[in-house]
Amino acid sequence: MAAESNTNRAAAMVSLESVNKHFGDLHVLKDITLSVQPREVVVVVGPSGSGKSTLCRAINRLEPIDSGDIRIDGHSLPTEGAELAKLRADVGMVFQSFNLFAHRTVLDNVALAPIKVRKTKRAVAEAEAMELLERVGIAEKAHHLPAQLSGGQQQRAAIARALAMHPKVMLFDEPTSALDPEMVGEVLEVMVSLAREGMTMIVVTHEMGFARRAADRVVFMDAGQIVEQNTPAAFFDNAQTDRARSFLESVLSH
Ligand SMILES: Nc1ncnc2c1ncn2[C@@H]1O[C@H](COP(=O)(O)OP(=O)(O)OP(=O)(O)O)[C@@H](O)[C@H]1O
Ligand SMILES: [Mg+2]
Repeated sequence: MAAESNTNRAAAMVSLESVNKHFGDLHVLKDITLSVQPREVVVVVGPSGSGKSTLCRAINRLEPIDSGDIRIDGHSLPTEGAELAKLRADVGMVFQSFNLFAHRTVLDNVALAPIKVRKTKRAVAEAEAMELLERVGIAEKAHHLPAQLSGGQQQRAAIARALAMHPKVMLFDEPTSALDPEMVGEVLEVMVSLAREGMTMIVVTHEMGFARRAADRVVFMDAGQIVEQNTPAAFFDNAQTDRARSFLESVLSH
């Protein structure tokens, strides 16, 4: 599956072709070619500074690229305007910091974008938001402000907010690394169930247990390049490059 999926660009939900990105003299994405199939879960790992966040941001056009092509469900990302807003809505994004609106209730946080961007009627958007909050296990917090929630609950609210736009793909950039250890599990559980339900997902994480359980493919980045990619079992038990092996030693030893 892994080898095929990377060549099967036409059917891909997300595809990057020869993507390059510099920050000044720093070449942060070096000729990245990657396809993610519908329902596939790709976990991206790699050392700090290897370009994982830049890759996520480029997929969502939060970060312009210098060359190459990025497509979501077959459509190249336009650079600006209404078309961009529409395609961006197809990509749900969850960051390390939850970025909830501090002065809005959790329910409003989830319902606002459908009301404003998708022009969904308030009653419909709120009913759907409640369903999503139930799905992530925080329905009882619907009328609270974000600050009244634990970190794990806030991150689950952020996931519900992203899902409210009916994205075709979800990007997660280290969604659990700002959380206290006891809250990591509850967020990963929500992500595992999303994966089981067939959501297409790209997940940057250091949670190797999650990668083993939920990933179809692990992509290892180093210094702006995809160095190797494989099934989780093959990657963790039989990494092919010294760079991947030394990365794995460093993350698995603490
Ligand atoms: N806005 C920016 N301006 C200049 N350099 C940047 C900018 N954002 C990132 N970089 C640099 O680009 C490189 C890749 O950064 P990126 O954040 O994508 O790495 P990462 O793999 O996500 O790292 P981490 O695991 O620490 O989150 C790093 O060397 C970083 O310092
Ligand atoms: Mg990062």
